[in-house]
Amino acid sequence: MPQATFRFPRGFLWGTATSSHQVEGGNSGNQWWLWEEGGHTLHRSGRACEWWNGRWKEDFDRAAEAGQNAHRFSIEWSRVQPKPDRWDEDAIEHYRQMARGLYDRGMTPLVTLHHFTDPIWLTEQGGWEQEGVVARFEAYVRRVVEALKDYVTLWCTINEPNVYALSGYVSGAFPPGKHDLKLAMQVMANMIRAHAAAYRAIHQIQREARVGYALHYRPMVARRAWSPLDRLMRALRYQGVNMAFPSAISEGVMRSPVAKVRLPEAKGTQDYLGINYYSQDTVWFNLRKPGELFTDSGFPKDADLSDTGFIANIPEGLFATLKWAAHTYPDLPILITENGVEDADDHMRPRYLAQHVHQVWRAINFNWPVKGYFYWTLVDNFEWERGWSQRFGLWALDPETQKRTRRPSADLYAEICRENGLSSEMVARYCPEVMEKLFP
Ligand code: BGC
Repeated sequence: MPQATFRFPRGFLWGTATSSHQVEGGNSGNQWWLWEEGGHTLHRSGRACEWWNGRWKEDFDRAAEAGQNAHRFSIEWSRVQPKPDRWDEDAIEHYRQMARGLYDRGMTPLVTLHHFTDPIWLTEQGGWEQEGVVARFEAYVRRVVEALKDYVTLWCTINEPNVYALSGYVSGAFPPGKHDLKLAMQVMANMIRAHAAAYRAIHQIQREARVGYALHYRPMVARRAWSPLDRLMRALRYQGVNMAFPSAISEGVMRSPVAKVRLPEAKGTQDYLGINYYSQDTVWFNLRKPGELFTDSGFPKDADLSDTGFIANIPEGLFATLKWAAHTYPDLPILITENGVEDADDHMRPRYLAQHVHQVWRAINFNWPVKGYFYWTLVDNFEWERGWSQRFGLWALDPETQKRTRRPSADLYAEICRENGLSSEMVARYCPEVMEKLFP
């Protein structure tokens, strides 16, 4: 057997990513809580992972002991600003303690300011459909950055604006559950405006800040490469899903299949590119999907699928993603702000992890500036409309007893983090089935 190690550059960030609503519990002030009460989700978030009750400490200990040197977490706007005219200083202090908790453990915090949830009062004012949200978001961001700036320099304004807009306004799986492509693009445009305002506000407060957002990027291939229709559908869907935010940031114009909006204030407003990559889609023409511009998507028949079929293990898609990123924004640092898989009994996760880390290493060897990798996620959490049916954690969680159980992948990831690399010996122990692929 060949012995080799894929080594990463010194200072590479290895962490996990989480979000407030998915781990805190008791977030009754946001629109997701109401959505869950309305029966739109498989289960309810309930106590989640009890981070609001202090369990973030034990989970940060787990991450630190497992060799992670960074962590991405998010701030819950509805806790910081429970009413339009009220700021909750205790909540702000709670987040300051979390940032400090990472700092004290020698871990770099990456703080997300918006991860799918909105205060109920904001929703009542029209949420992200109204341009008024821009000034409100900026005010909230200023408050948080002022409070956390001693410990945090790495900021992510908005997580997956494309998923927020498309799930809330096209598929309807997220609140407000609408089906209106035009409105989705209006929401997207307001998110871009808010991102640009936040970018400037953060830099005003903290000169050394590095500010970006997290793009959910889906590489796509046409189902039948020879079919002009499938190819056209692929192009349409690709543009609609992936390109609105990047085009606004590159050119100051948001380009989508249904709208072109000039947003000059957005041009150049990122110091790094945050990428969330999970899988790659196969796309085709479907007459029964007019609401999605007649495009449909799925995975190849022989795909290596996760527990519920939500994710196909396609590591080459991550390489394609990084290639796109490096070519679109030469010289801009890239952070993989999320990558992971749902796998309750951990039969697939070790190979998913090893194969994706391998693709990151390949990308770095082309001199593409990938600076960090955040696995989604640390401990099983509340997975939105899919409730507790999907288990993404390195640690398993029993939400009833709150007991955490380490999965083998936690050990594999710990070895990767400590070694700052992935060795053939690790692959032989944790996922020998992909040995030949990774070390031919
Ligand atoms: C989101 C996370 C989510 C993960 C897995 C990403 O789109 O940012 O909040 O839990 O996917 O479903």
